Amino acid sequence: MTITGATAIAGIAGSPVTHSMSPVLHNAWLAAAGIDGAYVPFAVPAAGFTAFATGLRGGVVRGINVTIPFKEEALALADTADDLALLSGAANLLTFAPDGTIAARNTDGPGMLAALALQAPGFDPAAGPAVILGAGGAARGAAAALVLAGAPQVRLVNRTRAKAAALADALGGKVAVFDEGPAALERANLIVNATSLGLGGGPGPELDFAAAPETAVVMDMVYKPLDTRFLQAARASGRRTVDGLEMLIRQAVPSFEAFFGQAPAADVDVRALALKFLGAAT
Ligand code: ATR
Repeated sequence: MTITGATAIAGIAGSPVTHSMSPVLHNAWLAAAGIDGAYVPFAVPAAGFTAFATGLRGGVVRGINVTIPFKEEALALADTADDLALLSGAANLLTFAPDGTIAARNTDGPGMLAALALQAPGFDPAAGPAVILGAGGAARGAAAALVLAGAPQVRLVNRTRAKAAALADALGGKVAVFDEGPAALERANLIVNATSLGLGGGPGPELDFAAAPETAVVMDMVYKPLDTRFLQAARASGRRTVDGLEMLIRQAVPSFEAFFGQAPAADVDVRALALKFLGAAT
């Protein structure tokens, strides 16, 4: 890739940002499309995000993805926000318009739904209750996306019950707190691990998947390793599974469109590229 005087710049801001896979994905799409653009990491100090992002007003940098720990701050400093960013209280995408305004979006939720559609064809989020394990940032985005997608109920199961209760309060009547156990899985249409359990190959949440319908789809947001113990157990029980890497890739697609004005080419195997990168990074 040649950087020219006309190269369009976008990137990702995080603290840390070193292990982000987004530059790998976006730059592969840029190269494949022959776009004169570059997607770069911005290692922003923990206390410096608002100064950094507001300094980009005007659109010299087209936009940025935002990752831990800046997603809430990103929403707070934006001038406009989409429904999902507002409901989830977090934005993973900021775009900078030439008129100086900053627009916030959340593409994590659509990324999760797109991954489900791809790896569990025919999955309908409105067909039954969704169970989310966890109550942190990842769970918040997933719960908000599922509410907006028409899930009749979203059940939060979390080690710290008070945190789940606070999230349920923020998200409204369709979100309820459940204790771990068979009742949480009854009639479940979807079960999502949004905790950090299983990261690095450790044990994941231990569920008795038999308490859920055989048609329940099981998803893990953990993608290191790709095939987590949670997904292995779900698959052994006969449930369909969806992995976290697909969600990561799918959240990047609308970001790329927002930065560079066109959809990434479908024939670039960014999944294989990401797997190679993950193998090297772990
Ligand atoms: P993220 O932004 O990835 O969601 P987070 O906000 O730190 O990260 O949330 C991590 C989630 O994993 C939380 O729901 C956490 O449970 P608590 O709210 O009780 O802390 C959950 N989690 C982390 N380690 C866990 C463990 N050993 N057992 C059960 N849940 C765990």
